[in-house]
Amino acid sequence: MCGIIGYTGHRAANDVLIESLKRLDYRGYDSAGIGIIGENLQVFKEIGEISMLQHSIPKIKGNLGIGHTRWATHGKVSKENAHPHLSCDKKIAVVHNGIIENFRTLREELENKGHIFTSQTDSEIIAHLIEEEYKGNLEQAVSSSLKKIQGSYAIVVICEDEPEKLVGARNESPLVIGVGDNENFFASDVTALLKFTNRVIYLDDGEFCIVTKDSIHIFDRNNTEIQKKENIIEWDFNDAKKSGFPHFMLKEIYEQSDSVQRVLRGRVSEIDRSIELPDKVEILLNDAIDSIHIVACGTSLYSGMIGKYLIEKITNIPVFVEISSEYRYFGTKDRSSLVVFMTQSGETADTLGALKKAKNAGSRTIVVTNVIGSTAARIADGFVLTQCGPEIGVAATKTFTSQMLSLLLIALKIATIRKELGSDEIYSYIRNLKDIPRQIRQVLAQSDKIADMAKHLKDATSVFFIGRGVNYPLSLEGALKLKEISYIHAEGFAAGEIKHGPFALLTKDTPVVAIVTRDATYDKIISNIGEVKARGPQVIAIADEKDTEIEKHADFVLRFPTNTGLLSCVSITVILQLLAYHVAKLRGCSIDKPRNLAKSVTVE
Ligand code: AGP
Ligand code: GLU
Repeated sequence: MCGIIGYTGHRAANDVLIESLKRLDYRGYDSAGIGIIGENLQVFKEIGEISMLQHSIPKIKGNLGIGHTRWATHGKVSKENAHPHLSCDKKIAVVHNGIIENFRTLREELENKGHIFTSQTDSEIIAHLIEEEYKGNLEQAVSSSLKKIQGSYAIVVICEDEPEKLVGARNESPLVIGVGDNENFFASDVTALLKFTNRVIYLDDGEFCIVTKDSIHIFDRNNTEIQKKENIIEWDFNDAKKSGFPHFMLKEIYEQSDSVQRVLRGRVSEIDRSIELPDKVEILLNDAIDSIHIVACGTSLYSGMIGKYLIEKITNIPVFVEISSEYRYFGTKDRSSLVVFMTQSGETADTLGALKKAKNAGSRTIVVTNVIGSTAARIADGFVLTQCGPEIGVAATKTFTSQMLSLLLIALKIATIRKELGSDEIYSYIRNLKDIPRQIRQVLAQSDKIADMAKHLKDATSVFFIGRGVNYPLSLEGALKLKEISYIHAEGFAAGEIKHGPFALLTKDTPVVAIVTRDATYDKIISNIGEVKARGPQVIAIADEKDTEIEKHADFVLRFPTNTGLLSCVSITVILQLLAYHVAKLRGCSIDKPRNLAKSVTVE
């Protein structure tokens, strides 16, 4: 999830680009670069944060340029892989945010035509493709190149031979135009521009534009010029890094309709009815697997517990879920087992210890992580990236939903290899997966209703979350979210377990959140709700939109959109996250940085 910027105007491009990149660093901060046209095109790149780049570059003359802060998806973190990427003649420079899915084929074709590549990124093919198409007009070359590209992109391109213009385009990655007086900008989001202008034009997918310091021309997919309205942004410049959201956590909850697409992109093919994972992971999954261990901490552990239900349902392979800090000292040394480690940061000390133990025992190891180049990704035999972009709020949100989906993809891949699912069943899973972003948006639209519901929890001293099957780990996660950000004591239980002890704690002042899906245990959870209510507490049910019975049993109901099988777990998660968020907000808590916690726990 990189940040990109483009500038043309009367100021020193150098200063504008660095300042704007600093505002975009939440989008990625593994390396950065700028390209400026003065007498000629000059490019500078540096590994690390923007300040590293700022201090390593000379004062460059020039009033037009592009910049990029990278969050690597293809190719390791290195100077070569940092953007801007250049054409062979070093006259065309490109910054890119997104993933070019057909880059391997395009790279082969371009190499056959004599193009020399200097990075491992998918992005570099764009510069070479434009060079190949270039016949003296940059916008035409960009436009015909984009017709050959599949995937997501926001790009800004400059060319030494046409030093007055920036060409930008977007498809599934954000890009806005900043409008100034005798100057204009491109940026991944408005936060990067607020220091210079609050006038912006939002671009839509398929749009393409040519920007000079005193003109803006926008074209649609059919190359027809269109007029777009200018918007005035009224955000406080200091809040800008949160893109207008009061907290990173809320912003990250909202980003999930996009992040779940990123975890699926390039991995599920509706046409081929297939699942594609990184080569090294596929090799590991191709070997005989007697059992799977999933090892993690905290929220990542709960995604593993959900994975157990998914994998066992789809593949019949037994799955054992283990806490990292226990597994590293007491875990089995079962060499025939595949051990999957879930870790957003890839740096959690307990999980790294467990991973090393499994490696030493000779087990096959896979890491599911959000951070390319993290220690866990480097140690494991194979890794799957959740591709969510940086998660800044300490409470894990978007990475949790993408972890669940990564485990589902692993399950579907194993089932395909072992011929446990036919092509029709895979197709039906893929169709249902593709509906998830819409379903998340449907839940997000209920945020006000969930905020209202939060009023019933805000003064509680203790809250129970209950569910059966996959809703049991979801209850654990709902309780963890609530306790970590609102400081209310909360516990998650398998609904059938509360009568074995926890009932003793229930009073009329202990609200219970019950997750209810219309599965084989529907009647059982309804009975459990009855048992709870008989002891006085109020019950908030999180129930399927098609459940017409639930109102008879619960005091309040929040609805999630129907999805088949276990896939509704994503929408349910978003409800639980919003519920915890609104309770914490009502209690005035420090939501993004809860007391005593750290985003990445690098000690035992
Ligand atoms: C969850 O909201 C917490 N941030 C915490 O439980 C977290 O999931 C845990 O520390 C594991 O972190 P990791 O995924 O980076 O390994
Ligand atoms: N795929 C590009 C890279 O790895 C851009 C990454 C992104 O936008 O997330 O450099």
